[in-house]
Amino acid sequence: MENKPRETFGSRMGMLLAMSGSAIGLGNIWRFPYTLGQNGGAAFLLIYVLMLVLICLPVMVSEYLIGRRGGSNPFRSFDNLSPGSKWRWIGFVAVLASACILSFYCVVGGWSVKYLFDSFSFAFSDAQSDYAANFSSFIGSPFKPLLYTLIFLCLTGLIIVFGVRKGIERMAKIMITVLFVIIVLVVVRSLTLPGAVEGVRYMFVPDFSKVTADTVIAAMGQAFFSLSIGCGCILTYASYVSKEENILASSAWISFFDTVFAIIAGLAIIPAVYAIAYMNGVDPNVGAGPGLVFITLPGVFSQMPLGGVAAILFFLALMLAAITSSISLMEVVVAFIIEELHRSRVIAVVMTFLICGVVGVFCSLSFGPLEGFKLFGLSVFDFFDYITSNIMLPVGGLLLAVFAGWRLKRANYLDELTNSGKLKIPRWLCLTIYYLVKFVAPIAISVIFLNCILS
Ligand code: TRP
Repeated sequence: MENKPRETFGSRMGMLLAMSGSAIGLGNIWRFPYTLGQNGGAAFLLIYVLMLVLICLPVMVSEYLIGRRGGSNPFRSFDNLSPGSKWRWIGFVAVLASACILSFYCVVGGWSVKYLFDSFSFAFSDAQSDYAANFSSFIGSPFKPLLYTLIFLCLTGLIIVFGVRKGIERMAKIMITVLFVIIVLVVVRSLTLPGAVEGVRYMFVPDFSKVTADTVIAAMGQAFFSLSIGCGCILTYASYVSKEENILASSAWISFFDTVFAIIAGLAIIPAVYAIAYMNGVDPNVGAGPGLVFITLPGVFSQMPLGGVAAILFFLALMLAAITSSISLMEVVVAFIIEELHRSRVIAVVMTFLICGVVGVFCSLSFGPLEGFKLFGLSVFDFFDYITSNIMLPVGGLLLAVFAGWRLKRANYLDELTNSGKLKIPRWLCLTIYYLVKFVAPIAISVIFLNCILS
């Protein structure tokens, strides 16, 4: 091809932080705590970890492997590994899925920008404010949320324009480090509130009476979403990784960081919600749904000492986490446009911005002026959230596993895992991963998925 040589990540640390940055995002800070809250706390956490190890880690290893061996965007990588086959269209659908996720992700990213701005003016210091009403009037207004959605998308595009090393890798290094430091500060604040220990107990002492089939589905969906697997993000980043890296170790680290971060984010939020509820003598509502972070937490911040500072730190963390993820989603689409439509990086970013911006505007409007407009009974935002998280990602993960397990030869799979024998990984471990990918992951995903569709 006439393309310039592809960029690569500059260092192992940079690569790990960029990939962890993709994984760590709104999924951890915004979605994980309330999903945990809705599904019975610690019991959900246990099932989540089980899903992670048995299904998601093998899928991630395969997506990583396909990206590195294929060496290109999802469409081209499949084509390189299985020339002329229909598999590349799976790659194409992965690119579409990324664009769909980015389109609703940037709406919530926009909310985080707005709440960060508000926290600077100490908007969350009045315990009497009706934060639920404030939130719904903000997301329902016809103009403001669109502006923030586009600001967020613009910030994402500004990073991507600088390319893999100077844009993605450099920003991930800075942002993830800052993110980690500030979230730890918020955790300290949360845990030192009187009554916080009840929230910790809720997170770590399992109550199995709350576990149903839905819990398992919720845990799988959450794990796919949180690890950024199933739609070509890991694949695209992996195509920038050198052949020297250890795929298995990298995937394990990324999953580990992501899970630890989700737990830390939970510890920043849930004990604080418990403590303030306890102080007011009401039931803590940690299953408050998507409003947990934008409604419950501002109320919590307004009632705790140093709450104003905690609010600034928290919403900064939320925005940074969202950006390191949205850049990975945008990069999937941008890499596809650069390599398949032969445009420059700048043009590719502008095209992606326009496409996702338009869809994003519709997603955002579905909380206000377009509230009554339904696709298959769902608002535009919920529709994109539903078809991506519950359908495209699990099916994408299933197909990735089937491709890696059945289409790539076993020898090639093992060869790639061990970097042609240069890495001394025990053979039983490689074979375990291979068989998890070949049998366990596809069967488990299909069973859970069918259960979800049929119920
Ligand atoms: N994992 C990110 C989060 O937790 C979101 C994300 C980025 C994502 N890339 C993805 C989700 C690819 C699914 C697929 O917020």
